[in-house]
Amino acid sequence: MNATHHHQRAAEQSPGPSHFAGNVEMDNVVLKVNNLKTYFFTRRGVVRAVDGVSFDLKKGECLCLDGESGCGKTVTALSILGLIDSPPGRIVCGQINYDGLDLVQCSSRQLRKIRGNDIAIVFQEAQSALNPVLTVGDQIIEQIKLHRPLNYKEARRRAVELLAEMGIPSVERVMNYYPHQLSGGMKQRALIAMSLSCDPKILIADEPTTAVDVTIKAQILDTFRELKAKRQMSLLFITHDLAVVAEIGDRAVVMYGGKDVETAPVSEIISNPKHPYTAGLIACLPDVSKATDKLASIPGTTPDPLEMPPGCAFHPRCDRAMAICSQQQPPRVAVSGEHKVSCHLYG
Ligand SMILES: Nc1ncnc2c1ncn2[C@@H]1O[C@H](COP(=O)(O)OP(=O)(O)OP(=O)(O)O)[C@@H](O)[C@H]1O
Ligand SMILES: [Mg+2]
Repeated sequence: MNATHHHQRAAEQSPGPSHFAGNVEMDNVVLKVNNLKTYFFTRRGVVRAVDGVSFDLKKGECLCLDGESGCGKTVTALSILGLIDSPPGRIVCGQINYDGLDLVQCSSRQLRKIRGNDIAIVFQEAQSALNPVLTVGDQIIEQIKLHRPLNYKEARRRAVELLAEMGIPSVERVMNYYPHQLSGGMKQRALIAMSLSCDPKILIADEPTTAVDVTIKAQILDTFRELKAKRQMSLLFITHDLAVVAEIGDRAVVMYGGKDVETAPVSEIISNPKHPYTAGLIACLPDVSKATDKLASIPGTTPDPLEMPPGCAFHPRCDRAMAICSQQQPPRVAVSGEHKVSCHLYG
């Protein structure tokens, strides 16, 4: 790009914060995942766990990654953080742009720094990650001291603040509890507090509501909503539950077989789903207004990752499949400005 061209592009841009990550435009986008492919090279064959996923995470939004078990949600998150076990895993293609960097190309040292300061994660099944022989307070204090040059007293004060921000009652008492003395919901909130100890710009939450009951689920969703509003933090929220997406998400990426099959604002996803898979997921949502004890489900099962169907991976389960669907992968089509779908029914 020559100087004049660069100048023109800068002039064309809307006012407000913007910068480039290489040639990538990052206007209001804090994280840009482009055509990410993460494969596992196993003895049984190549698992294409993430196979061409693209999405933007914008400042202050909650973007949900949604899809059935095994579709590649966690592997997408771990790829962003540089936490894919290699071997057997490897990012074979794509870019992950953050703050002028391509995280795919970053050294493990750079990635460690980013994990400590910028992007935090609450792991799936994280509750077992708490150390059973340390008090909750000491574990949070330890995390804070890892990231901030504070002495014990200051770190302790910060830990109390974080737990209070999580809506934990009687914080001073809870600080001295061991993990087994906490309920599931309290443990989850302590873990979220811990992940916030570095004041991240991006928080990735991997199924934070899956292991808790409905009341706690509602409380945890409230906690995330408040966090997002108060901290202007970007949230990448992973869940297999579209009902949760509807409650917390601004936009959603629906994944199937390692691919992002539909991306749209949540209201669009719920009221106007385009991909037959998304439509199937919506049809499976329990409708409390209808007195039925039978839940709908999408026929068939998720594909064997080692034997992905050719063409569109969803075609064997799709009631609208056409001949082309088993032959060619559908291109990504924009049905409207912010609504994209990969399906042969469109475009
Ligand atoms: N270390 C690994 N070695 C081989 N295959 C793996 C490895 N980690 C993940 N996979 C495979 O990658 C695919 C995607 O897994 P991933 O954990 O991302 O799914 P998910 O969408 O998070 O599912 P869930 O809802 O069950 O958490 C799966 O087929 C999984 O078996
Ligand atoms: Mg997962």
